Amino acid sequence: MHNLSQDIERVLLSERELGGICDALAAQLAGQYADSGRELVFVAVLKGSFVFAADLLRRIPFPCALEFMKVSSYGAESHSSGFIQVHLDLKRSVEGADVVILEDIIDSGRTLQKLSGLLAGRGAHSVRCCTLLDKPARREVKFEADFVGRCIPDVFVVGYGLDYSERYRNLPYVGVLSPTVYAGKT
Ligand code: XMP
Ligand code: MG
Repeated sequence: MHNLSQDIERVLLSERELGGICDALAAQLAGQYADSGRELVFVAVLKGSFVFAADLLRRIPFPCALEFMKVSSYGAESHSSGFIQVHLDLKRSVEGADVVILEDIIDSGRTLQKLSGLLAGRGAHSVRCCTLLDKPARREVKFEADFVGRCIPDVFVVGYGLDYSERYRNLPYVGVLSPTVYAGKT
């Protein structure tokens, strides 16, 4: 059997630490939205955020909706300001709602910058972004999430929903992928 753990150089965030991060984010979200009087719609960005979304939403004790989108962003090399391609869209309106986009990790910042603009343009009352991980050193556009689980250094991480070539999403922790796995493949 190929044990996925053998491809992990080191564990960056254990299951226990991830639980603590979700607790802290849920408390921040409760402070912001528990008594807003508006509908709260979480929009989880597929596929990477699915584990994070499941853990976070089970810590939210007040009414909220969950929707999914699948998008990809392209950099300035393919378009002057970068653009976003929507592969799976919402099936509902977010007009008047408080929207919180759930993302696994922010890298260049392009995905969330474009996606938050797109949803704001659909008449949401507010659009905020909640990310499990943030790599500020990689930012290419000016973008900051409203709720950040943990800032991490510029290393490639997998697990807890994050993949390399569609593998490792099922690891229960976030780990640094051993460079030997992708050596010669990029
Ligand atoms: P932006 O638009 O912020 O996109 O550049 C963020 C997306 O980049 C991917 N990404 C990673 N995926 N491990 C991953 O598994 C990483 O270390 C990593 N860094 C960036 C990911 O798809 C994220 O949604
Ligand atoms: Mg992603």
